[in-house]
Order: sequence, then C-alpha cells, then structure tokens
Amino acid sequence: MPESLLVVKDLVKYYPLTRGVVFRKQIGAVKAVDGVSFDLRAGETLGIVGESGCGKSTVAKLLVNLERPTAGAISYKGEDITKLSGRALKAVRRNIQMVFQDPYTSLNPRMTVGDIIGEPYEIHPEVAPKGDRRRKVQELLDVVGLNPEYINRYPHQFSGGQRQRIGIARGLALQPEIIVADEPVSALDVSVQAQVVNLLDRLQSEFDLSYVFIAHDLSIVRHISDRVGVMYLGRIVEIGSDAQIYNHPTHPYTQALLSAVPVPDPGARAHRERIILTGDVPSPANPPSGCRFRTRCWKARERCAVEVPLLAVPEAFPTGPAAHPSACHFAAEKQVVPQAGERPPPAGPPVGE
Ligand SMILES: Nc1ncnc2c1ncn2[C@@H]1O[C@H](COP(=O)(O)OP(=O)(O)OP(=O)(O)O)[C@@H](O)[C@H]1O
Ligand code: SF4
Ligand SMILES: [Mg+2]
Repeated sequence: MPESLLVVKDLVKYYPLTRGVVFRKQIGAVKAVDGVSFDLRAGETLGIVGESGCGKSTVAKLLVNLERPTAGAISYKGEDITKLSGRALKAVRRNIQMVFQDPYTSLNPRMTVGDIIGEPYEIHPEVAPKGDRRRKVQELLDVVGLNPEYINRYPHQFSGGQRQRIGIARGLALQPEIIVADEPVSALDVSVQAQVVNLLDRLQSEFDLSYVFIAHDLSIVRHISDRVGVMYLGRIVEIGSDAQIYNHPTHPYTQALLSAVPVPDPGARAHRERIILTGDVPSPANPPSGCRFRTRCWKARERCAVEVPLLAVPEAFPTGPAAHPSACHFAAEKQVVPQAGERPPPAGPPVGE
C-alpha cells in the first residue's frame, strides 16, 4: 500500500456563535467539523462527498491552513502541521495547494491572468526568480490547455471552464504534491465538467499529484476517486475504496445518496429502489444526540439516540467488500429500503447532544 502523505486525526473546527454587537457573548458553537479522521496516500485521489453545510469546505481550508483547527492533528509526512508556524509552515503550505469552487469569484477581476497564476511566486520567489516567471506562467497556461498568448488577458475574457483552468494553473505554480480541490466543477456547465475532471486526471499522472477532491454528489467523484469518504453533519460516516462505497455501501446515508445517482442502463434503473431522504439536515450548532443521521434514517432505533456510532469496520465483515469503516450501529444488517408511507418516526428526541 502506498505511504500516507497526510494523516488527519480527530479534526475539529467549531465556529463561535455570538449574540450582541457591543457586548459580544458566545452563546454556542457551529460544529462545522467534529472529529474527522482519514489519510491521503501518495498518488491517490480521495473523494469527499456530502450535502451542503456538512463541513467539506471547512475540512479543505483546514488542510491548506486557511483555517486553524479547534482540535486534532494534520500530519504531513509525519509532522503535525497544525503546530507549525513561520518558515516551517510556509515550506509545508507550498506543498499543499487548493483549487476553489467558484472560478467567477476566486480570480481577482483586476489582475491579468499572468499576475494571478504568478502570484504564488511573490511568496515563494525561490520557485521562480523574477526573470523566469513569465516563461513559467506561459508554460502553466499550456499545461492546463490554454493559449500561452492569453497571459495579459483578464478573467472576464474567459469562459467558466477556462477560468477554472486558470485556477488550476495557479494551484500548480508552486509544484505542490497535494491539491485540495473544493468542488472544482460544481459551478460549471455539465458539458464542461467532464473536461475539467479529465484535465485534473491527466495532471495527476503528469505531476505525481495526490488529490482531495470534494463534491456534493457521488456521481462526480466516481470517475476520479480511488477512495471516497462520505460526510454528514461534520463527520465522516463511511469511507472505503471506490468499489466498496459504490457497490457495497453499508451506511444508510451513503445508500440514500447512491440511490439518487443517475443510472444510464434503463434495465438497472427499473430495478433500483430510490431512497428519498425526508427532513432537513439538522443545524450543526445543535446536532442530534447519538447518531447524527438518526433524524432522517429509516433504520433508526432507540440505541441510535443514545450511543454515538464509531467509524469502524463492522465486526460481522472482517473481510470482503463490506469490510470498510462505517459509522452505523447496524452496518452489518442487510439494507431494507422503506416503501412509501412506511418510514418510521425518528428515534428519540429530535436534537441535543
Ligand atoms: N466562518 C464561519 N463562521 C461561522 N460558521 C461557518 C463559517 N464557515 C462555515 N460555517 C458553517 O459551518 C458549516 C459547514 O460549512 P462548510 O462551508 O464547511 O460546508 P460545505 O460542506 O462546504 O457546504 P457547501 O456544500 O454548501 O459548500 C455550515 O453550517 C456553515 O454555515
Ligand atoms: S446508527 Fe442508527 S440512525 Fe445512525 S445510520 Fe445507523 S441505523 Fe441509522
Ligand atoms: Mg463548500
């Protein structure tokens, strides 16, 4: 198995909830990320999937050090980067770069493409001395499939897909080992999404990159991920290889997400049971006790309200395709999809941990 480049352990990020303008008082916390652990192996793509607000972008910002964690560790090649500062932190940051979701707002409209892509060299002049930068930026434009002659143009002169290519070129400028791509294609037309995913795929083999690829939809990460982690309300609820997650999901939330993924084969489509999740995602400021998914889970029972399920390989499946970590007390049970009108009421009180 390839070595782990990043090891994330019990990562927590709480944002304070305050009241009052003059006398600010903390009245609680948004538990955006609440005990997330995973590793990223050299050369792989780890997909991270979940609904809006489950904490995906917060994980991304923690990985690239745009946010500091409330607790937990992020080890890069064995060193906890959350404890670093100054020059040591700068050196690590160079190796972990981010590609942002929205190519319309993440590029400064007043800067030329050349200045945008070359901006990281201002902080890391050792990678490209001033006299060499123009050539480097043109090379990067070429690498991401844009005409190097566009170097003096402005972001508004490009389409959404081209702008995301500019964002990717900027992410590559410092020759990182890891790219954290936060929903890199969500803001793009469907017709352009595959082109950008293919580009990322090609760049990965060309530059030996490892990716954390974030998406809200399992169908987008399917073609690019080696492993997938499914997030719900600040936690990873299931993680495994591509085949384990797509063919043998054991967590009810993953099963529900998968049932919504379009199937091209009409025969398979006719036999598939669609699991429609009812109810809203609870507030991360006041998550349900026990299993956070229980207010929407059709398998929920009394135990789910009182006992937090750990992310672990089910004892009943020590080997085989279902032998991957899943945070469900009943992960070993066969999936029983409820029929219309059969959904049981959620177990226990609605919220309050
Ligand atoms: N700076 C902040 N201050 C307070 N709360 C925040 C802050 N940033 C994020 N949050 C909250 O933390 C939770 C997780 O947000 P995050 O942006 O990580 O989710 P996400 O999974 O990326 O969602 P989306 O799919 O919409 O991008 C949300 O409830 C969000 O409102
Ligand atoms: S622990 Fe209970 S509520 Fe949570 S996913 Fe499993 S069955 Fe559903
Ligand atoms: Mg996000």
